[in-house]
Amino acid sequence: MKFGNATSFEEDFLRENLMGPNCVRIAEELMQKARLLPGMRVLDLGCGTGLSSIFLAREYGVTVFAADLWIDPSDNYERFRQFVLEDRIIPIHAEAHALPFANSSFDAVVSIDSFHYYGFEEDYLDTHIVPLIRRGGTIAVSVPGLQEEFSSGIPPRLQPYLDADVHFHSCRWWKALWSRSPEITIERCFSLECHGQAWDDWLECDNPHAKRDVEMMKAENGDYFDTIGIVARVNREESRDR
Ligand SMILES: C[S@@+](CC[C@H](N)C(=O)[O-])C[C@H]1O[C@@H](n2cnc3c(N)ncnc32)[C@H](O)[C@@H]1O
Repeated sequence: MKFGNATSFEEDFLRENLMGPNCVRIAEELMQKARLLPGMRVLDLGCGTGLSSIFLAREYGVTVFAADLWIDPSDNYERFRQFVLEDRIIPIHAEAHALPFANSSFDAVVSIDSFHYYGFEEDYLDTHIVPLIRRGGTIAVSVPGLQEEFSSGIPPRLQPYLDADVHFHSCRWWKALWSRSPEITIERCFSLECHGQAWDDWLECDNPHAKRDVEMMKAENGDYFDTIGIVARVNREESRDR
């Protein structure tokens, strides 16, 4: 499967390594709205098996710090070696509240299908992400979300699949959360066009989580879910120097 101008994955490789809706397809669309230039330093937060990191390194010539909690960085290193990208993608084991990086280390932080696990916390963005990015740098996040907030809790037909503490929210909700930050300017908050195709790619995978999600998506029937992209810029004002 081809993505962007410079990235292709064997279908078997992709299916073995997807962890949710096709993150490469999502990265391809999300990053069209966020300008990355060769040589930039990018944190791929919650990179999972690192497919989006491979895409970012290949497509934009950036150096990627591929940070994840659940996936062993040694496994990611082997994957990056397969693509001869071990010099340009650094795999790291990290928890999103204890990121082991110096202030202003990055030109951009990218996060796909991960931010909803921790980024829903009110002060998360300003406390843990903004300090890591140079002034004028970019934040580009995509999360699974909702077309509209549930008005009276999780609908009965989705209750077998979604926990009460799942942080799926609408574009409007994410925009309101990020708007509270004095440190950033939101450039885009939008529904990704690839939502349906990214899910279809995932549902074809021979993976127990994907099999369960087939049932969930049948129940959902296109009525509730969305894939949301948010792109913001860290403000240039001196006030964020600390
Ligand atoms: C559904 S997977 C998506 C992985 C990958 N971005 C993708 O789209 O295929 C969610 C990822 O978020 C990461 N994650 C969840 N909570 C995290 C946390 N507190 N700190 C760092 N990573 C976290 C997990 O390790 C996992 O790989």
